Amino acid sequence: MENIKSYVQQHKDRFINELIELLKIPSVSADTAYSQDVIDTAEAVKESLSKAGCDYVETCDTPGYPIIYGEKIIDPNLPTVLVYGHYDVQPPDPLELWTSPPFEPVIKTTDIHPEGAIFARGACDDKGQMYMHVKALELMVQSNTLPCNVKFMIEGEEEVGSASLAWFVERNQEKLKNDVILISDTGMISNQQPSITTGLRGLSYVEVEVTGPNRDLHSGLYGGAVANPINILAKMIASLHDENNHITIPGFYDKVEELSAEERAEMAKAPFSLEKYKNALNIADVYGEKGYVTNERNSIRPTLDVNGIWGGYTGEGAKTVIASKAFAKISMRLVPNQEWEEITELFTKHFTSIAPAGVTVKVTPHHGGQGYVTPIDSIGYQAANKAYTETFGVPAIPVRSGGSIPIVALFEKELKSKTILMGFGLDSDAIHSPNEHFGIFNYLKGIETIPLFYKYFVELSK
Ligand code: BES
Ligand code: MN
Ligand code: MN
Repeated sequence: MENIKSYVQQHKDRFINELIELLKIPSVSADTAYSQDVIDTAEAVKESLSKAGCDYVETCDTPGYPIIYGEKIIDPNLPTVLVYGHYDVQPPDPLELWTSPPFEPVIKTTDIHPEGAIFARGACDDKGQMYMHVKALELMVQSNTLPCNVKFMIEGEEEVGSASLAWFVERNQEKLKNDVILISDTGMISNQQPSITTGLRGLSYVEVEVTGPNRDLHSGLYGGAVANPINILAKMIASLHDENNHITIPGFYDKVEELSAEERAEMAKAPFSLEKYKNALNIADVYGEKGYVTNERNSIRPTLDVNGIWGGYTGEGAKTVIASKAFAKISMRLVPNQEWEEITELFTKHFTSIAPAGVTVKVTPHHGGQGYVTPIDSIGYQAANKAYTETFGVPAIPVRSGGSIPIVALFEKELKSKTILMGFGLDSDAIHSPNEHFGIFNYLKGIETIPLFYKYFVELSK
């Protein structure tokens, strides 16, 4: 532990500068304008893995962006840790809300990060958290303390649904064989209270299109006489929740697992301040499903949210028009046991059925994935908990997250191994938002904690 700390102290400036270089490449997977940057980032990751000590690295071509694979096998009889992460990032817009450009990383202090945080798109999600693993490998190789085999699989399409990764995993089961999968792509409660993510929500993401008249119309000449697709879409969307904020799609809750009173009481023990939560978001009150508290609403309960809505005239000034079409992108966060394909079908059937005559509705599924829960009595969980306990001085608390990493359920199905979600980000790090950042404290703590996970995982596996 002291050796780990001193290695990190000695090399921390370089660790920070290397991450900053990686953050400068705008690897936005959703936008083809950045495709060369995404590919360049993959190559940068590959190089960093070989420099850190992998014996073998490979750019694996896929139908989409490449997957970087790396390994260091020290003894086939020892356990193997498979590290997964992603080098792609979310689009940076709206650009005008960034206090410094998203791909020009700078270190600034915040109330929560008095020792500084790196501000850049991808700083926390997931370049910063992925790179902790690369530096942890360097540390273990340089100090001769790598206690087992390690494989890396770093993809470039996580933010757009991981389609190529699913393709890759199905075709490379032998290559990816492992004893535990380790991911840092989630968060923790606070810098004083670490937590381990034991659940992720599933996802069904769809786009809807409502079509009315065959062309845009004068809103005076035709207004009142034909269905306005934007009015109709707004009404249809509003009807998807009832007065208790329950989702109205028939069958939506059929497979939802109800937690016992004991499990809910256990969840309520995690430190949480509603006042601080409201203040941080500048809202007068929270909002959500009746009968559940905030920490339940955003983790153990399924949800439906509009992510974007458009149509008609949105330019400067006013134009009197009834648009021919209206659109929305809708995500449904799901809980374990809900099948995402089934939910997509239920949504499509219901949404089409509530459309009045006078419009037609098209639903296009985008992507989806299953939720995940993992037990806390596994060797992997215990190793992670021991590692956090040692570096933070307090044990980690198990927490179910509201976010999704759809590929985790697929890993379990295809590779038959458990995933341990060792996240070091904070909810306030603004992932997917303007001014995303990652605390220097969190970055360095991650690099210190990961080698201890390896150590305890090997010890507990004996
Ligand atoms: N790293 C996030 C997921 C996450 C963040 C989980 C924080 C738990 C805590 C990941 O990159 C992500 O954004 N996933 C997407 C889903 C994907 C299919 C686009 C999400 O959750 O919206
Ligand atoms: Mn991520
Ligand atoms: Mn993300």
